[in-house]
This record gives sequence, C-alpha cells and structure tokens, in this order.
Amino acid sequence: MTTILAIETSCDETAAAVIENGQIIKSNIVASQIEIHRRYGGVFPEVASRQHILAIDTVIRDAMAQANTDFSAVDAVAVTRGPGLVGSLLVGVNAAKGLALAQNLPLIGVNHLEGHLYSNWLQTGSKPVEVVFPVLVLIVSGGHTELVLMRGHGDYEILGRTIDDAAGEAFDKVARLLGLGYPGGPAVQKAAVGGDPTAFNLPRATTKRPYDFSFSGLKTAVLRLVQRYQKSLKRPADAAKPAPAADNLPVADIAAGVQWAIVDALVQKTATAAESFGVKEVLLAGGVSANGLLREQMSARLGVPVRYPPIFLCTDNAAMIGAAAYRHFLRGEFSDFGLDVTPNLRLR
Ligand code: KG4
Ligand code: ZN
Repeated sequence: MTTILAIETSCDETAAAVIENGQIIKSNIVASQIEIHRRYGGVFPEVASRQHILAIDTVIRDAMAQANTDFSAVDAVAVTRGPGLVGSLLVGVNAAKGLALAQNLPLIGVNHLEGHLYSNWLQTGSKPVEVVFPVLVLIVSGGHTELVLMRGHGDYEILGRTIDDAAGEAFDKVARLLGLGYPGGPAVQKAAVGGDPTAFNLPRATTKRPYDFSFSGLKTAVLRLVQRYQKSLKRPADAAKPAPAADNLPVADIAAGVQWAIVDALVQKTATAAESFGVKEVLLAGGVSANGLLREQMSARLGVPVRYPPIFLCTDNAAMIGAAAYRHFLRGEFSDFGLDVTPNLRLR
C-alpha cells in the first residue's frame, strides 16, 4: 500500500490530505479563506499567502490526525508546484520540503490541473473507481478551461483551451457586475434560479481553433447591459469594482442567460470532441464542474458516460493532489529539493 501526504496552497484554500493508493481518502482537510477575501471581492494575493502561513501547520497536523497515521506509515510528501499564486504556492512547497527532509521521505511536485483531473479517480462510494481510456477531460476552474484527451495515465493532449477568460473567471466577473459577490459561480447559479435564459441575446464566441473557448465577450455584453440599467449613475460601471445594482436590473434573467451561454459552449465543444476522438468517457473537473446546469447538460447531451467528482472534490483540495501524485510515485517520478514553484505551469 502506498500512503501519500498531499499539500495544496495554490490559491485561497490551505489544504492537506492523506491518500492511499491514489484512491482512498483517509483524510481531507480544507481551510477556506473565502470569508476573508469576500470583502475584497476576490482573492487578495498577499493576504492569501499570510493566511496559508498561519494555517498550514494546523491543517497538516489535522490531516495526519484524522487519517490516524504517523510519518512512519507515509511513503511520500506531495505538493502543488503550480499553476497558482506565487506567494501561496511557496508556503505549500516550503512546508512539503521541510517535512520530506525531516522525515526522510521522497518529494513529489504536482501540477494543480493534473490534480483537478485526478479528482475523478478518488473513491467516494463503496466501489473502486475504474476509468476506461481514452477519456476526454474538461477542466473548468477559476483560472483554467482546458479540454484534454487522455489515452492513459499521465498522457495528456490539450485539444483546446480558453483564449481569454477562464469559465470560472467569467462567472466571477459577471457576478461582480451584477453585485452578487464572491465567489461568483455559486452566486450566479443561485441567482439564475427562476430567470429566463433567453431574455437577452448574449453572444457566443467563435474561435479559430475548433476546441478553444472564449468568454471575454460575454463579460463585455453583461457590462453593456448593466450600464444600460445604470444610466442614472454618474460614473460608468467599472469591471474592476463591484457594481451598485440598479434597482430594476433583471439579475435573474441575466444570470440565467450567462450561465446558459457558458454551459452551452462547454457542452457543445466537449460533445464534438468526444465524438471525433471516440472516447469512452467524459470527465469533468475543477470548481466550475460543481455547476448543476453543466452537470445536467453534459449528462443529457453526450453520447458517452459523464463522470464528475462530488462537489467537495470539485473545488481546490489536497486529496486530488494525492491522487495525481500516486501516478508519479508509481512511475518513480520524484522531485529534488531544488523544487521551485511555477506560477504559470501548464499541463503540457
Ligand atoms: O478549482 P477552483 O476551486 O479553483 C481554481 O483552481 O481556480 O475553482 C474556482 C472557480 C471559481 O471561479 C468559482 O466561481 C467557480 O469555480 N465555481 C462555480 C461553481 N462553484 C465554483 N462556477 C459555476 N457554478 C458553480 N456552482
Ligand atoms: Zn483549482
């Protein structure tokens, strides 16, 4: 049996988990900073790294205690090395190096996106997970939108990605414009309930490459709409500041329209790619895969089974980092103590 202690601090969650054989979650601790960042309307990087420093020791201790294990039973220490915020990543990487050195354990640097993808291999039910390759993975998070073809473990072909904003970023920016607060995805999903997704004609972007995505036009269209309703206000709406909601702003209709536009674009391109590449399954990953409409539409419109993690494994966590690290462990891929953070690390 292989036991991995995994650490994740790439953005605003301080997380640690103990994972057995890349599948079994012995513990999964996440200290969220959402309440702290909410007042800034988004993640404040310096505050995030400070909070990681304050929380990391306790979070790791809790993960070890909840797993009822000690370091003699741990085979490796894994940590997110990128992509993410540099100051945040550094806290996790330094903690992992310290532990690995002190406990004489191998160190495994993990790509955060690979973590999201491997969240689909974590066992949450009674049966072990069996994924049949080739699979298509749609990673949709606050910073990324990538369509990845996987023919085997660790084998990634990027079919397409966003050329501007990520899907989660689009949700977050629109939420700001609508005065819905942070994080935007769950807020837009909630506000969309009862709204008419066809009330406004929101744009669908075309991209040069068939599997690329583009969401920045959507944000601009919503900005224009909000401005139309805010004519009485002296200063123009500014995308960088939360908009004071005009009284008559049809928030539910706009939220429903935006959610539909994002989900429809994601489902359409995923469906086309799934068919063209003859994949056996489609896997969703990342914070936006928590979205109810996305899950429902993917399952309804794709000709192959669709798999997605439970909500608590969609958003950032360390269990997924442990699942991805296990594959590196099996291949004998370890990091040395020169391991550095790579804020703009790509999957390939
Ligand atoms: O994967 P994640 O926790 O962090 C990153 O690696 O970025 O993703 C966070 C993103 C945020 O943009 C958030 O608004 C979005 O996931 N999100 C959602 C939902 N829950 C979280 N977007 C749409 N619907 C949701 N229910
Ligand atoms: Zn993430």
